[in-house]
Amino acid sequence: MAKPGPEKKAEPKKRAEIERLVRDLNYHNYRYYVLDSPVISDADYDQLLRRLKDLEEETGLVLPDSPTQRVGAPPLEKFRKVRHAQPMLSLDNAFSADEVREFDRRVKRFLGTEEDIEYTVEPKYDGLAIELSYQKGALATASTRGDGYEGEDVTVNIRTIHAVPLALRGEPPPERLDVRGEVYMDIEEFEELNREKTARGEAPFANPRNAAAGSVRQLDSSITARRKLHAACYGVGAQEGARFDTQWEMLAWLRAARFPVPVMMRLARGIEEVLAHIKNIEEARHTFAFEADGAVVKVNDLALQDRLGARTREPRWAVAYKFPAHRGVTVIEHIVPSVGRTGVVTPIAFLKPVRVGGVTVSRSTLHNWDEIERKDARVGDTVVVERAGDVIPHVVEVKKEKRTGTERKVPPPQRCPECGSRVVREEGEVAYRCLGLNCPKQVRGRIEHYASRGALDIEGLGEKNVALLHERGLVHHFTDIYRLRKEDLLALPRFAEKSAQNLMDAIEASKETTLARFLYGLGIPHVGEHAARLLARHFRSLEDLYGISPERITEIKQMGEKIALAVSRFFGEEKNVKALKELKALGVRITNPEYWAPVEEEAERGPLAGLTFVVTGTMPRSRKEVEALIEEAGGQATGSVSRSTDYLVVGENPGDAKLTRARDLEVKRISYEELLEMLGKGSPPGTLF
Ligand code: IVH
Repeated sequence: MAKPGPEKKAEPKKRAEIERLVRDLNYHNYRYYVLDSPVISDADYDQLLRRLKDLEEETGLVLPDSPTQRVGAPPLEKFRKVRHAQPMLSLDNAFSADEVREFDRRVKRFLGTEEDIEYTVEPKYDGLAIELSYQKGALATASTRGDGYEGEDVTVNIRTIHAVPLALRGEPPPERLDVRGEVYMDIEEFEELNREKTARGEAPFANPRNAAAGSVRQLDSSITARRKLHAACYGVGAQEGARFDTQWEMLAWLRAARFPVPVMMRLARGIEEVLAHIKNIEEARHTFAFEADGAVVKVNDLALQDRLGARTREPRWAVAYKFPAHRGVTVIEHIVPSVGRTGVVTPIAFLKPVRVGGVTVSRSTLHNWDEIERKDARVGDTVVVERAGDVIPHVVEVKKEKRTGTERKVPPPQRCPECGSRVVREEGEVAYRCLGLNCPKQVRGRIEHYASRGALDIEGLGEKNVALLHERGLVHHFTDIYRLRKEDLLALPRFAEKSAQNLMDAIEASKETTLARFLYGLGIPHVGEHAARLLARHFRSLEDLYGISPERITEIKQMGEKIALAVSRFFGEEKNVKALKELKALGVRITNPEYWAPVEEEAERGPLAGLTFVVTGTMPRSRKEVEALIEEAGGQATGSVSRSTDYLVVGENPGDAKLTRARDLEVKRISYEELLEMLGKGSPPGTLF
């Protein structure tokens, strides 16, 4: 791979193309990794990237923010130390609403005011604090917090995180800007990583925070690159040439500069409004993909922040409200093997019920028997359990000092506890597997999964009803769901007229579904919701997957060998294809809104695909709304006019600088109405589309 070096002389035409490619690719990166709403297909992205790589090789010109520069550093011996230009402070904690009110009183006392203070409220991301130092607009160093004064240089690792911009936007960008934020791992990703680790016989990470920290503090950046890390930026340290008066403005600036910023941020006046929003966050946090361990409250006005200053470790202008702890101490009462829908037998610890993070926990996974051995977990042991977000709690620690000598080890089963078939440990695998093809637990598990919320979403087909229907011989496979008749249900003890009708209606409604949901519902090993969505983006229809080769699947970015093999194996199985055809015959209709049309089907990608716009002046709608319209139609909206701008959309009282620059660079100027025409919508301004 070409490396950035001293500016090379490239032919002006090629240089312009490189600039444009870098700009476009970075935009698409942003759509994909930060907004999670791409506007081009992976194949198109790869084609642009390939073109850029070729041009970089050919000309030797590699821009510092080129997306080719995210990976490829050799492993380090050890981390270099980096001094933070401004110390990275920690936060004072509050554990109740009253303690948050107490913080507000302290702030007012210190400032000598009785008036309501304006605060920002943000979720507290449970990850690893980092500082991103931009010099002359380019990411120069990224460091961990360390002791607050000095951290470790993790630049090469952080560069692999696609959500982190390699360059600042704006002309000119600030001379220097230290952006602060949290690097974190989604809960789903954390669980997947742990499954992989335990399958390899390695110790799992205790929580998503440890997983994120372990992934960033890696001497080999290629390992970091393989972990799907995210970032949320919420602050600024040292700076020159950037100016914000409030925390809120700073967040808005960061967002506009394409930094990932926290979700559910809110400006609140007075502490009661703050508390109300904290409650919103606390209620919504179960829907977050990441683990939030609290909410951070900050005085909005930066001048007031300055006046308030800091104690040794924490600022006086902020506080972290911590959600109730997710850990609890309890006792293992039994260890029971449980068979999953893929036949894998997992040891489950039945616990003396304990309240953890607001819910009662009475069960916890022990992952596998290697893990039991490693932890030396026994029936009767006192253990620490932890819940990360909404996930299944797990045992993080065995308190061996509490042993009395009566604790009992539990060996892996030799027979399936559900069907009595042999249980074997396949070579090279950690998991034990039930060999029974018709093992009722597997059969029911597959049906439950098919009907689950993220899949076909059939309300009323949960564990209990599936067990009942299966026991009565009414369902053996998920195709049987669509053969159920209301009379069958009415004959069962759990159903009355209304509940039977509800279930029939839910089944009927599930017949209209999307490919992503359907693929997930099939329960193909390793295909979770994310992988299913990726597949749906790439394949127009279910039929396109019949007999698919693993190579066709690894062509998709982010799709590994393991998933590819599993998918290919599934669709190569005659029996499966037959079942899918049956489903279609039974009336299941699958649409695929996720699908990305190939390049030649330009029209489907939105009328403005590939075009870059700048909006200036007053229009019937706010600039943000106009920009959103452009982006929804596949175009790009940017802040300043450059050689790569295609159109300047001019409203009333346009910016002089933009107009002049557009004239100089011969950028086409159009009106708001002309833009609407290009959108093919042509509706009069002011009406909603
Ligand atoms: S502000 C001086 N905002 O929590 C204030 N921190 O317990 C600096 N954190 O070290 C931090 N989400 O790593 C802030 N929205 C957020 C945050 C956040 C997570 C972390 C950060 C900090 C730690 C303090």
